[in-house]
Amino acid sequence: MPTVPLPPRTRLLYLAPAFMVFLSLFLNRNKPYLDTKPILYASATISIQAPGSTVWTTFSNTTTWREWNPWCRNAYLIHPTGVEEGARGLMRVGSSLRFDVWMHTRFNDAPWHFSQEGKDIITAVEVPAKVGSGKKVWRAEWFDESSPDWLLRCRRESTIEEVEGEGVKESVFTTTAQFYGPFAWPVSAIIGEGMQRDLEAMAGGLRGFVEGKGGHDGPL
Ligand SMILES: *[C@@H]1O[C@H](CO)[C@@H](O)[C@H](O)[C@H]1NC(C)=O
Repeated sequence: MPTVPLPPRTRLLYLAPAFMVFLSLFLNRNKPYLDTKPILYASATISIQAPGSTVWTTFSNTTTWREWNPWCRNAYLIHPTGVEEGARGLMRVGSSLRFDVWMHTRFNDAPWHFSQEGKDIITAVEVPAKVGSGKKVWRAEWFDESSPDWLLRCRRESTIEEVEGEGVKESVFTTTAQFYGPFAWPVSAIIGEGMQRDLEAMAGGLRGFVEGKGGHDGPL
């Protein structure tokens, strides 16, 4: 088949993605993306009828996730030394997380199942001071390090804030996912809505489990 030369304007169009990659490499050279607006931001908030410490005990022990988290049904903590910690493990900075994920995307209504191989590195684990009367907030944050910074970075942050309900302690659980980098555009198009739905299911599962009404009802 004879090749037809592309009209010059069309050739310019082909340069656009290359230019985008170059531009993002340049803009991300000092990792300023965390100060910028994420390309995809998904977040779910739910209130749970339990003290913050109770919610945290469940959330920070990934062995329990199998019972309540429809999105990440199996989660394993790997100590910074590389040893998988099993049920003994609690989140700590420097540990990584290995997940079995059931994710909704634009293309599948039944969740797509895959394993995320220990590339989520925990960067923050914060619990409130035992004494004092300040705001009681627990926080965990991790980053997916499975692709280079300049291409895609996913930050996951979850917080639990204890609030005074009517004579009882309640908690507000919030979990967010933020995607940065040029690859976040296609990722957002494919999993954006699904991610929102998955975060809401995660929050709902945690509430159900902590309040003793059962976690998720999907297959394990
Ligand atoms: C984590 O949860 C599992 C399952 O409920 C439990 O067996 C284990 O003792 C918990 N680990 C810690 C450190 O609390």
